[in-house]
Amino acid sequence: MDSIGSLGLQQGEGAPGCPQEGLPCPSNTSEMVQECLQQFKVTGAQLRQIQTSLLGSMEQALRGQAGPAPAVRMLPTYVGSIPHGTEQGDFVVLELGATGASLRVLWVTLTGIEGHKVEPRSQEFVIPQEVMLGPGQQLFDFAARCLSEFLDVLPVGNQGLQLGFSFSFPCHQTGLDKSTLISWTKGFKCSDVEGQDVVQLLRDAIQRQGAYSIDVVAVVNDTVGTMMGCEPGVGPCEVGLVVDTGTNACYMEEARHVAVLDEDRGRVCISIEWGSFSDEGALGPVQTIFDRTLDHESLNPGAQRFEKMIGGLYLGELVRLVLAHLAQRGALFGGHTSPVLRSQGSILLEHVAEMEDPSAGAARVHAVLQDLGLNPKASDAEWVQCVCVAVCTRAAQLCAAALAAVLSRLQHSREQQALQIAVATGGRVFERHPRFLSVLRETVMLLAPDCNVCFIPSVDGGGRGVAMVTAVAARLAAHRRLLEETLAPFRLTREQLAEVQAQMREAMAKGLQGEASSLRMLPTYVRATPDGSERGDFLALDLGGTNFRVLLVRVATGGVQISSQIYSIPECVAQGSGQQLFDHIVDCIVDFQQKQGLSGQSLPLGFTFSFPCRQMGLDQGILLNWTKGFNASDCEGQDVVCLLREAIRRRQAVELNVVAIVNDTVGTMMSCGYEDPHCEVGLIVGTGTNACYMEELRNVASVDGDSGQMCINTEWGAFGDDGSLSMLSTRFDACVDQASINPGKQRFEKMISGMYLGEIVRHILLHLTSLGVLFRGQQTQRLQTRDIFKTKFLSEIESDSLALRQVRAILEDLGLPLTSDDALMVLEVCQAVSKRAAQLCGAGVAAVVEKIRENRGLEELTISVGVDGTLYKLHPHFSSLVAATVRELAPRCVVTFLQSEDGSGKGAALVTAVACRLAQRTRV
Ligand code: G6P
Ligand code: BGC
Ligand code: BGC
Repeated sequence: MDSIGSLGLQQGEGAPGCPQEGLPCPSNTSEMVQECLQQFKVTGAQLRQIQTSLLGSMEQALRGQAGPAPAVRMLPTYVGSIPHGTEQGDFVVLELGATGASLRVLWVTLTGIEGHKVEPRSQEFVIPQEVMLGPGQQLFDFAARCLSEFLDVLPVGNQGLQLGFSFSFPCHQTGLDKSTLISWTKGFKCSDVEGQDVVQLLRDAIQRQGAYSIDVVAVVNDTVGTMMGCEPGVGPCEVGLVVDTGTNACYMEEARHVAVLDEDRGRVCISIEWGSFSDEGALGPVQTIFDRTLDHESLNPGAQRFEKMIGGLYLGELVRLVLAHLAQRGALFGGHTSPVLRSQGSILLEHVAEMEDPSAGAARVHAVLQDLGLNPKASDAEWVQCVCVAVCTRAAQLCAAALAAVLSRLQHSREQQALQIAVATGGRVFERHPRFLSVLRETVMLLAPDCNVCFIPSVDGGGRGVAMVTAVAARLAAHRRLLEETLAPFRLTREQLAEVQAQMREAMAKGLQGEASSLRMLPTYVRATPDGSERGDFLALDLGGTNFRVLLVRVATGGVQISSQIYSIPECVAQGSGQQLFDHIVDCIVDFQQKQGLSGQSLPLGFTFSFPCRQMGLDQGILLNWTKGFNASDCEGQDVVCLLREAIRRRQAVELNVVAIVNDTVGTMMSCGYEDPHCEVGLIVGTGTNACYMEELRNVASVDGDSGQMCINTEWGAFGDDGSLSMLSTRFDACVDQASINPGKQRFEKMISGMYLGEIVRHILLHLTSLGVLFRGQQTQRLQTRDIFKTKFLSEIESDSLALRQVRAILEDLGLPLTSDDALMVLEVCQAVSKRAAQLCGAGVAAVVEKIRENRGLEELTISVGVDGTLYKLHPHFSSLVAATVRELAPRCVVTFLQSEDGSGKGAALVTAVACRLAQRTRV
């Protein structure tokens, strides 16, 4: 395909009046000019090469692959949706960089009503050269002064203003209001700005100006403002194309294709920054010596080479370089150059636009050249016009090749062969160069024939678009503030945690002395942790956690072997009659014995009963109150061992020797203590939460004896039932407590354990939905369903390996229509709730280990804590947050957390083994 023939422009047909070969004029002039014009001719093949190479760079950058820096940056803009026109409010917009040496301030009123538009008010301010090249602070102070000057004439009073900052330079954005300048372009070169967050620089300048309280809520690239400013009726525009002093485009890419974003749904606007496209292979052949000279003499040689062939800041300069070149070779202006021709930047976009305009005619061109201090002959004017046409035509064609690359990318990412797309265009090259758009459109049709492209000039240069983004950002910022306000009570300070630790110590001391305390500090009659001499086969029951298990535990020289079976406790049994519950337990035991071939054998049995029991001995435990969703009747106040023995009796022909009843914390401590003798604390963070530890008998008022130790079951789940935790309790905790079967009870547990965290999160999500912060304010039936948000969702949602996309999947299974912002907020809610739980649990452990250290008058205590419970084991961060809090609050204790592998059933068997050994010794 020759140069322009097949591009619909008839052979030899340039702008009207452009002399062609064979026209009567001095041969060398024409040759010399033709030779120059020829350089600006770009073939179809070259344009396709540019299209393909740019597409390749775009996709490489999207993949975020290592390797040679892609020629284009493909910068995510955090604009995820195109406006749905409901945005409302008054916004100030500051535009810097789109139109070169000027900035613009606008006051935009969005009415949110389809088609009802309020004309924005705006004012343009010329930026002095020394400000564009001076210290960054000076530039931002200049911008802040212009803002004030603009607002001074408006009746804004001292209302808080929301500002959208259109900053038309390549930036790494990390949020709608956080953007770091990568490098200046287009005649700007202020110091101390590259690598800085330009929003903060503007905020600081506005602060220094101190005239108005302006909140900078969004920063957008001018291409995004252009795209978002598309009239709702006309668009939606999904591509924003700017050709002003510089050039660039943005478009809506499928989020899943943007490697740096952990997103798989929806679209995100990408600022391509195609100005830096510089693939030598594609661009080399179309670059002229004039392009190289321009680049060499520019403020940023080697950078923005593609932009320097298209942007309005450079078209005039290219024309000047060509005219100077031709003048020096005597082909134009009688071989005379002039100060204008010799001085950089003297021929402006406006000049080229005027001279290039076919309707201008030679006379107009002549006049422009005279204004530029040149003395053109008639033929000069025509040649000059040809040069302008050649430079601008190439610019439009190159821009078209780039746009065609974007269209191909959209075809790829949407797997659409035929693409119907609206492109918003902005910038003075479009406004002033009538032929630019037509050449662009024609060339795009040739390079992307399957795309039906509708070009929509942006109204008011994208100011409205910036206001749209600002409105979205303002809404998101307001949502973020409401989210922070809602989660603030969950963010506990070190002081608050230390206060919990101190309160718990006080309650422990009172509980041990038998004084009124929310901590019942129950003696367990376990006086020692295992010493490894235990032997024998034992049955163990494990009731009170997620699962009810029956275990056969064989304690032998080689270690402990366990075979067990999980049985379910239906809610109707857990909340039925006590007799029914214990009969169910015995049924399971019998079933287990049959399966294990133990029928008829009366093995010693240890009963892990994970509820608060006042024990009078190892095999006597009065249930004080049910917790964790259990509420079987006629049990509270009863000796649980008796209830079990009665059930065994009711089930004739079953022989069972119930030797010990232990709390799951004790079972866990014993089970871990079998491996590590330092293990003197048992911790459960599962359905419920609790801790036990080895206390000095002298401190246990209710048990005789001053020497030796006894394991104390703190029952810390009830900590705060006396109101001592009210300072931390939130409205969501109150909702969960009121809805529970034991309101007012187990307040500490209800802030920590697995049975309740999901419910706390659900209540927070309901609250945020009612505020319109989440799920577009739509309350869903599902979310109003109790216990529908399982605590295991927190563990899944907070797992590092789970991208936001999976968070979305979990929530969508709950029938929650959500945006990516919603998913992010739900994640933050889960993190706040689980972190508070872990920190409170850590404060509890710190209280216990500090008690032991002080009991023993030690400077430093080394101790291990045996831990069990689904929440502690499965939540990705819970255990490390507990350990960090203990290190913070009990720095003189070196605490090792041992996760119990075999559960507390083994511990119950070991307690039984110790009891049997002790009973054996007393018998001999
Ligand atoms: C293990 C222990 C049980 C304990 C449970 C607590 O399974 O063997 O005795 O009650 O952990 O955790 P969970 O998450 O099941 O409530
Ligand atoms: C900048 C882009 C901007 C374009 C149009 C380029 O120099 O790098 O961010 O969109 O000019 O103003
Ligand atoms: C019970 C404790 C038990 C804890 C962990 C609490 O609800 O009161 O006895 O240790 O849950 O299972």
